[in-house]
This record gives sequence, C-alpha cells and structure tokens, in this order.
Amino acid sequence: MSEKRIIQIPLPGRAYDLVIGDRSLAAGDGSELQPVVGGRSCLIVTDKNVEAQYAATTVALLENAGASRVEVSVVEAGETAKNLATVASLYSAAVAARLDRKSVIVALGGGVVGDTAGFLAASYMRGIDLVQVPTSLVAQVDSSVGGKTGVDLPEGKNLVGAFHQPRHVLIDVATLKTLNMRELRCGLAEVIKYGAILDADFFGFLEGAIDGLLSVDAGAYRRVVERSCELKAMIVLEDEFETGRRAILNYGHTFGHALEKLTGYTVYTHGEAVAIGMGMAADLGCILEATPARAELVRRQDALCAAVGLPTRLAGIEPAAVLEAMGGDKKYVGGQNRLIVPAAIGTAEIVTDVPDAPIIAAVAGRCD
Ligand SMILES: NC(=O)c1ccc[n+]([C@@H]2O[C@H](COP(=O)([O-])OP(=O)(O)OC[C@H]3O[C@@H](n4cnc5c(N)ncnc54)[C@H](O)[C@@H]3O)[C@@H](O)[C@H]2O)c1
Ligand SMILES: [Zn+2]
Repeated sequence: MSEKRIIQIPLPGRAYDLVIGDRSLAAGDGSELQPVVGGRSCLIVTDKNVEAQYAATTVALLENAGASRVEVSVVEAGETAKNLATVASLYSAAVAARLDRKSVIVALGGGVVGDTAGFLAASYMRGIDLVQVPTSLVAQVDSSVGGKTGVDLPEGKNLVGAFHQPRHVLIDVATLKTLNMRELRCGLAEVIKYGAILDADFFGFLEGAIDGLLSVDAGAYRRVVERSCELKAMIVLEDEFETGRRAILNYGHTFGHALEKLTGYTVYTHGEAVAIGMGMAADLGCILEATPARAELVRRQDALCAAVGLPTRLAGIEPAAVLEAMGGDKKYVGGQNRLIVPAAIGTAEIVTDVPDAPIIAAVAGRCD
C-alpha cells in the first residue's frame, strides 16, 4: 500500500483525522482505526452495491483494529432509500445488534449511506460515534467531510438532519475503480467547484490531469481527494454551522437544485445539474460586472467540464421556470436570494438581492 496522507480537522473538542490512501481497505492494517473502534462493537451500514464489493474487507479491517464485534446492516442503494423508514429500520438493527452508547456506526458507501448512517449515529441513544468510509467520489470529496447528516422527506431533500462530526474518516481511492463513470463525474463537478471558487492552482492541475481523471488513475485521485478535502475542511472550520462563508460551497447549487427539481430528478444527476448551474452562476458574474477574469473563468470552466463529460448547457427548459424553482431553495434566505458568483478562477463572492432580470439572462444564455 502506498503512503497515507492525513488531514487533521481541528474542531475544538471534536478533532478528527481524515486518512487518504490507495488500497487502504484491502491492504490496510486498521491501525489508525484502533483508537476509535478498539474494544467496541461496530455496526457497518452499507448499501447493496457497496456491500458486494467492500463489506468483507471492511469487517476484516475493523476486526484487525480491535473491534469487539462487527455487524453489517445493508440498505437499498440510491437516493430513494435516504428516508425516515430506512432510519427506523436501522434503529431496530442497532438494538438487535445490542449497540450501546460506546458503540460505533461505520458508514461504508456513497453519500446516501453516509448521510443516513450519519443521522442514525447522531440520534441513536442521543448520539454515538461515527466513522465514515466513503466509497463514491461525491462522498470522498464532499459528504463525508463537514458533519452534515440527514435524510429526505416526501416534501423535499435533506429536510431532516443534524450536524454530527465523525470520529474518523477513512478514504480509499481504490474504491473509485468500481464506481460507474456517471457517478464519478458527479463527484468531479464538486471537485471542479472547489477549484473554481477556492484554488486556481488546483483548477490548473485538473485541466492538466484529464487523462488520469478519466482513467481513474489512483495517483491523480489521491491529489484530487486530498486537495478537495483540505479546501472543504478549511471552509468548514471557518463556519461549521453554515451561518456565513460556508455558503460559498453552494456555487452552482441554487441553479442546479432548480434544474434537478424542474426535471423531476430523473434527467440530470446532481453533478450534471451543478455543472450547468456553475455555468449559469459564472455567466451571472459576467452579466453583473464583466471583467476579463470572469470571462476567462467561464471559458476555462466550460472547457474543463466538457473535457470530463459534464454538460454546460441544457434544452427544453423555460428560464422563468428556473427562477421560480429557485425561490423554493432553502439556500434563499428569508425570501431574498443569495447567490455565489466567482470573481476569477479561485475566488468567489456571495451576492444578495440580485434582481430577476440578470438571473433570467444568465439562465437563458445556457438554454437551447
Ligand atoms: N452531507 C453532506 O454534506 C453532503 C454533501 C454532498 C452530498 N450529500 C448527499 O450525498 C448523496 C449523494 O451521494 P452519492 O453521489 O455518493 O450517491 P450514492 O450514495 O447513491 O452512491 C451512488 C451510487 O454508487 C454506488 N457506489 C458507491 N460507491 C461505490 C463503489 N466504490 N463502487 C461501486 N458502486 C458504488 C452506490 O451504491 C449508488 O448506487 C445525496 O443524498 C446528497 O444529498 C451530502
Ligand atoms: Zn453538490
């Protein structure tokens, strides 16, 4: 196994490590998990797809790390399983597995498993320890970092949840090899987002790494996951509960959520909608104040998204309907809009109270 990289998340009283490696599940010795799971019973929560690939190696790793007992609970794969009924079935599984306040929930899977198992850990016996073992790119660069957990309601996504930071995050980039390309691209949209709003050098690295990204090269993904986690962690540390600056991570998301909603969550993956949304947000920046740096961002962001196979435009949508759908986004504060607009590659700002006309123009410019 190649060298591990450790990113420390120094939250006061709840500091934890994020350990990134290549083949750390199959070839790891579990030593870094020992302080968290040693002598404790663990319940691995995973989904059917991930169970088939990684449950056995994760059980072995936890046993090596000294866990006193390891049980596995498997949920259905996909967003439709991210609900209160699944959480209720997991509470029963936790009781059946005799989990107590010293036990540990291990979330093994993508963001759906991470959010659902995270919420289980946040609420079972008023909160027990959580270890995240993210296996999708979205989970490795986004959902496993930052402590947001929760599930969907029939009325909308992520409407119930809690902040619950993990005790440890174990990332094995080798798991990305079995992820399908469309899911991988979904994660790449978030990765491009980090570069666009926070780190011009990283954006440049991505532009030069297209072949490695598309061939799922472990070296390329170690760098991608490391830098993305560092950037997300930096923002989370500044604003853990999203009262201010953490909102910049919503770049492309207010537009993207509206597009997902309007197309019934079936046409675009979240990442595809975010890629188009980042295009709209970047165009909005140019409409509000045209500068050469903003124009360059639009050009390079579009080219990078296209190179990894993400869309930057869409068809069959009325711009006014997008504006209307944006009004229902919970990131709109008190009815006033709050949008994230890049100023140049690697910097973004939060703009509020943007009038309808420039928003419509930004959306219309991307609709065919
Ligand atoms: N908590 C947060 O801060 C946060 C941030 C971003 C996203 N999210 C949430 O994350 C969810 C999306 O996460 P996702 O994109 O990982 O979706 P997902 O969990 O549904 O995983 C995508 C698909 O890939 C499969 N899969 C996962 N890892 C695999 C692997 N290594 N090999 C083969 N198949 C694998 C899963 O079984 C699933 O079918 C959404 O519910 C979203 O709200 C949360
Ligand atoms: Zn997202």
